[in-house]
Amino acid sequence: MKVTVFGIGYVGLVQAAILASVGHDVMCVDIDEQKIENLKKGIIPIYEPGLTPLVEETYQNGLLNFTTDAEKGVSHGSIQFIAVGTPPDEDGSADLKYVLAVAETIATYMTDEKIIIDKSTVPVGTADKVSAKIAEVLAAKGQDVAFDVVSNPEFLKEGAAVSDCMKPDRIVVGTENEKSRVAMRELYAPFNRNHDRMIFMDVRSAELTKYAANCMLATKISFMNEMSNLAELLGADIEAVRHGIGSDSRIGYQFIYPGCGYGGSCFPKDVQALVRTANEIDYKPALLEAVESVNYAQKQKLFTHLNNHFKGELAGKTIAIWGLSFKPQTDDMREASSIVLMKALWEAGATVQAYDPEAMEECQRIFGDNDNLALMGTKESALKGADALVVCTEWSQFRAPDFDLIGNSLSTKVIVDGRNLYDPQLLNNRGFAYYAIGRGDSVKKVNA
Ligand SMILES: NC(=O)c1ccc[n+]([C@@H]2O[C@H](COP(=O)([O-])OP(=O)(O)OC[C@H]3O[C@@H](n4cnc5c(N)ncnc54)[C@H](O)[C@@H]3O)[C@@H](O)[C@H]2O)c1
Repeated sequence: MKVTVFGIGYVGLVQAAILASVGHDVMCVDIDEQKIENLKKGIIPIYEPGLTPLVEETYQNGLLNFTTDAEKGVSHGSIQFIAVGTPPDEDGSADLKYVLAVAETIATYMTDEKIIIDKSTVPVGTADKVSAKIAEVLAAKGQDVAFDVVSNPEFLKEGAAVSDCMKPDRIVVGTENEKSRVAMRELYAPFNRNHDRMIFMDVRSAELTKYAANCMLATKISFMNEMSNLAELLGADIEAVRHGIGSDSRIGYQFIYPGCGYGGSCFPKDVQALVRTANEIDYKPALLEAVESVNYAQKQKLFTHLNNHFKGELAGKTIAIWGLSFKPQTDDMREASSIVLMKALWEAGATVQAYDPEAMEECQRIFGDNDNLALMGTKESALKGADALVVCTEWSQFRAPDFDLIGNSLSTKVIVDGRNLYDPQLLNNRGFAYYAIGRGDSVKKVNA
């Protein structure tokens, strides 16, 4: 099938590449000229396991193409994906300007029938807005061309995006149009062989399904973080509690890791956006508001541990940070806990020596001109002369480090572990002041 994808970011590029890999003829359109030029040269703008060979292979065999020419993009595909960003507006609601700009572009250039697919995460009612925009532009041109707007939200996880798209848990499609149903089945048939993963529903339910999924996951995380705060105050160990509740199959082990708050491009903005949607219809989403405020507070914890340890005297201190991305296996730093920590440290007069396996370039792009940030080439060099180590992201290479080397490199033996990677007993025995999340015991011993 001939497919066009507007917006070649984390979602659009992965979606385009996997569709091309099964034989669809895919044209990628982005307004970022540098990104498109780089892609044509084989330079992939994001780190995502398995993506580079997939893009190289499909570009070389001619099934994946890149352009900034929107007219060319519109004329290419009978299916047009909208996969542009939907960042939070000033009030937290999803900003639809990029989505509606693409709708306008498609309407401006379309001359034959199109199925337009909302792949971006968009509030309930957006497909109606996209339809209205297209109808308005077509009417202004005096053109009568058939089109249908389908909701097809994306559930990929950054860090596992390629495998998630190749073997999706489900493919949610919101449409009441029979022709679109048939086309969507054909489009996704290669990913649907093992068993039927397609779930058809009305457009509004599909739009809400995406928010409900992300809000549910964010709720699990904030719930566990709230439990971790209680554990800390009550002298319990949240890790024992986690095992204790995860073994209940109704609860399960997934998404119940306590930590230093959720980040990324999805959970924070999607929880906020659903809160705004609820407000607009005069509904008070008490649970979602709590999920957000627990997360906000959790992101301050790393700084609080450091500030308490150094008795408010962080000015002039150097803090080593391991992990800058919002989670492992990605270079994405959007809404990362590391950013909250670094800003608080700079505000307090401290400097940062940071290392991340993949997000160094991204950090350089965001904070490169900050004199109080040194981006170090290895995790070991980040430690040298620092007054404390903070682990922000649970990359596997941080899980079993050489604690002798850490102790010898730091000027004071302080570790703040935002992901509960280490054994409190072991670190206390080795003379470290060790602060984790919700492990009352470790905190009690160190402070004793
Ligand atoms: N990143 C994720 O893990 C993820 C997962 C599921 C859903 N989503 C949703 O998918 C959408 C895209 O997210 P992302 O992380 O891929 O965004 P992104 O910021 O990585 O990429 C968006 C791209 O759209 C391009 N763009 C903007 N306006 C354009 C236009 N008029 N024409 C063509 N291109 C244009 C930008 O230049 C950019 O390359 C969002 O709604 C997001 O919530 C993201």
